[in-house]
Amino acid sequence: MKTKVGVLSAGADCPGINSTIHWLVQSALDKDLVPRRGMMFKILGIMDGWKGLIEVRPDKKASLKHFTMPLDTDIVRTWDRYGGTRLGTSRVNPFDPNNDKSDLLTQNYKKLGLDALIVIGGVDNLGVAYKLYQNGLKVIGIPKTIDRDLAETEYTLGFDSAVNIITSDIDRLRVTAGSHSRIFVVECMGRKAGWLALEGGEASGAAMVLIPEHEFVLERVIELLKLWKKSGKRYGIVLVSEGAKPRGMEEIHERRGRDGFGHYYLGGVGGFIAEQIQKDTNFEVRYVALRHLQRGGAPTAYDRRMGRKFGIAAIDMVVNEDFGRMVSLKHGEVTSVPMKKALDRLNLVNVEKFYNTRDYKSLDRIL
Ligand code: F6P
Repeated sequence: MKTKVGVLSAGADCPGINSTIHWLVQSALDKDLVPRRGMMFKILGIMDGWKGLIEVRPDKKASLKHFTMPLDTDIVRTWDRYGGTRLGTSRVNPFDPNNDKSDLLTQNYKKLGLDALIVIGGVDNLGVAYKLYQNGLKVIGIPKTIDRDLAETEYTLGFDSAVNIITSDIDRLRVTAGSHSRIFVVECMGRKAGWLALEGGEASGAAMVLIPEHEFVLERVIELLKLWKKSGKRYGIVLVSEGAKPRGMEEIHERRGRDGFGHYYLGGVGGFIAEQIQKDTNFEVRYVALRHLQRGGAPTAYDRRMGRKFGIAAIDMVVNEDFGRMVSLKHGEVTSVPMKKALDRLNLVNVEKFYNTRDYKSLDRIL
């Protein structure tokens, strides 16, 4: 009898998901490992995240074809080098209090004959995975989010690719900013966590970085820019995280409303800052929101490698029956942690340790 493992990606896509699927299939179907493991696997891809597991009709052939994809090494052969997720994704929440579909999902898990489910997700969707585990399903989590806001792991898939995109996009902007002696306010993603802004700012040498973990004072931003220009710089880049807040104000939301988990879509704080700088100085200012460009394109070498390690680890966890746990990187080594622990808090920037609250940039010192 083969152990049937389902795999799905849920929430935002990012580079590295396809690599993890590629490697978990390679590992699961590796014939040389059968004697050591004492078990054989079948891997079933579930399309479009939880939506697929809710909407599939396991007794209908056409529905099975639409919502599931049996995976083998031939199918996933080239997936490791592509961004996004070949299994598709969605922001559907099966535990939505106004439309709870968790019972239907559980029935489908059983009807599909799944012995375990690997969920590639961030905070919200590993939260769903954990609830399902509490309800008796055999679930394992793989951390992915460009925000890197999941606790209990040093890495979440997609982060490195996103930082690289921020860096190369700022390199491009620097060229035109320099030609015109302009200030560019660049807005990046990250939700409540400032990691993308902080590390993108470090890599690109931004003049200033504004993060959600520390409310900024607009007058100080302008003062710092004036000092920056006074020191002879032709142009400057202010990198602002979408969740950053001016002191005394609320987060700035897009008009799109909320996602399936009740979170507001963020975005627009960069435009607000650019307008204020333009009003209070004689600098020429432009605003660029990087938005979904940060989640596009091919995975970096690091994301491919981490996808490989996380995918293989997830199959090892099925073999060891480590259910209710999440793959994790700790002290540079791949291990696993209880999902509950990873969900107890968000991994946010420790301002005291990493952020210079006077000059609004990384705290670069070791003493
Ligand atoms: O969580 C990842 C993320 O990219 C956030 O940084 C961002 O706020 C959000 O997803 C955007 O969501 P969507 O792709 O649904 O617009």
